[in-house]
Amino acid sequence: MCGIVGYLGTKEAYPILINGLKRLEYRGYDSAGLAIHNGNSIVHYKKKGKVSKLEQEAEGQPKDGNLGIAHTRWATHGEPNDVNSHPHASQSGRFFMIHNGIIENYDAIKEALIDRGFSFQSDTDTEVLVNLIEDIFMEGALSLEKAVQAALNQVSGAYAIAIIDNEEPDMMVVARLGSPLVVGLDNGNFYVASDATPFVEYTKKAVYLEDGEMAVLRRNQTISVFNIESNTTIEPYIHQLTLDIEQIEKGGYEHFMLKEIYEQSRSIYDSLRGRLLPDEGKVIMRGVSEYKERFLKADRIIVVACGTSWHAGLVAEYIFEELARIPVEVEYASEFRYRNPIISEKDVVIAISQSGETADTLAAIKMAKQKGATIFGVCNIVGSSIARETHAGAFTHAGPEIGVASTKAFTSQVAVLALMAIKIGYERGSLAKTEYIQYLHELNRIPDMVEEMLSSNDDNLLGIAKTYASASNFLYLGRGVNFPVALEGALKLKEISYIHAEGYPAAEMKHGPIALIDENMPVVIIAQKNANYEKVVSNAQEVKARKGKIIAIVSPEDTEMRKIADHAIEVPETFELLSPLLTTIPLQMLSYYIAVIRGCDVDQPRNLAKSVTVE
Ligand code: AGP
Ligand code: GLU
Repeated sequence: MCGIVGYLGTKEAYPILINGLKRLEYRGYDSAGLAIHNGNSIVHYKKKGKVSKLEQEAEGQPKDGNLGIAHTRWATHGEPNDVNSHPHASQSGRFFMIHNGIIENYDAIKEALIDRGFSFQSDTDTEVLVNLIEDIFMEGALSLEKAVQAALNQVSGAYAIAIIDNEEPDMMVVARLGSPLVVGLDNGNFYVASDATPFVEYTKKAVYLEDGEMAVLRRNQTISVFNIESNTTIEPYIHQLTLDIEQIEKGGYEHFMLKEIYEQSRSIYDSLRGRLLPDEGKVIMRGVSEYKERFLKADRIIVVACGTSWHAGLVAEYIFEELARIPVEVEYASEFRYRNPIISEKDVVIAISQSGETADTLAAIKMAKQKGATIFGVCNIVGSSIARETHAGAFTHAGPEIGVASTKAFTSQVAVLALMAIKIGYERGSLAKTEYIQYLHELNRIPDMVEEMLSSNDDNLLGIAKTYASASNFLYLGRGVNFPVALEGALKLKEISYIHAEGYPAAEMKHGPIALIDENMPVVIIAQKNANYEKVVSNAQEVKARKGKIIAIVSPEDTEMRKIADHAIEVPETFELLSPLLTTIPLQMLSYYIAVIRGCDVDQPRNLAKSVTVE
């Protein structure tokens, strides 16, 4: 899952490409590279490491020109080094290509090309594709776009590609299948990228290529789009972007993650805005209303998602089952899609995804759609592949999330899913009117409660972070709807601080993990005053008896848990089913502080990428 950027127009390409890469670094940062056509020939630079390393490499070197392509890589084939970095040149040096995705049959094609006299510099699948294009181009005396089209019809897998030709200073060819690609249009300037962030300050007009489409961009001409397989011409639909430049800048915070944690009062509010009308006793969700009958008659809801979004799905399972009385199954998209699951037309599949581009989630819903299920999306990115593949949906409106560790996207997903469950529960008659109204009012209070939590002094959290920053393991325990919060807390810590952490249902601890507990083991316990409180207190006693260090998330008036715990973090009380919207936040902060103290790269943790567009 790499980031790709391209530019063709009247301006200098280099700064546009570099700034674009920096915006897309969340997609991968193993290496970066670019190629620029200066009117006579192509110059290229590539370097292992982040975009800043590429800038150093290109410093003082010629890089003028107003046609170029650039790439930030998350390696799938071949280790992250200079040679495997993109762009990849064809054997003759005529074509340069960038690629996001995986060419699954690259090995067979590579062997055939070797037999035809090709040799390869890198270990990547990408270099195979660019040489296949060159081979077809030379052999068939075709135009570049025809050669690209013919080559793409021979490959399987996923790609978003952009290719330029040394002999053609006025043209770029782009194509997509499975990986995202969008073209920004501005009076003869073309901006190509994996998402719209690289060009948002230049234009609000964008064409999202659909799977199986390619486009030819020619200087001073309009974009021409056609289907790769059928060769039919497609009239491009021009989207009007709503993204702002301020939304994708750090705004004075040291890290995007911290900014995004602090944005949560706002982002939860934005997820509910215009939908939650407590005084009128109404919930307006167009997507849900359009498919109301499907929801009301659903035999079950299947949630498909990955990572943090999967945790939001687990929270939703508790809320939907309790309020709407619909059975819910929460599935890892990667497992679901390969399991030949039993799906019927009476199932509603909810796909949860911040990026809307996660390959496994996308494939899972395509499969469920084929089997007749209704597909509902809870995505953050408007125009994303998952959002477009669904029958209906509700965007989370959390705003762009740049930190690789997901924070505000999670709370917005939970807010939207809770609102759906309340609405559907009421309409199915499983949630009585009085309770329904109470839930609406309580959900409406959440943004203010989050605001209050975030504006209170966080020295306590910082102190706890300092105490345990050098721990090698952490355990997170929670019960009921706060069990997924324990999983999410552990994931956050693992991701950004590289401390091993496990989340468990509190009661499961004694079936194994308790063996790990000694005086060096910090145990985070979510112990708010709710139906499970006494049980959680007993679990905390079990930890205490083995000298584990307890960090407890408690309600303001708690006394019992505070006595047992080594540290207490206070979180305001709300309805139990809505509590994950609050209890998650101190866990995000704790992992943030620990990662900063350990000197980790909070926004771009090692080996990770924000958008996982490969399976
Ligand atoms: C969260 O912190 C992760 N980086 C990751 O688990 C993420 O939630 C997962 O890859 C799913 O992404 P999506 O929501 O964009 O589909
Ligand atoms: N397969 C290509 C490589 O390894 C692109 C990687 C990707 O998009 O994840 O370089």
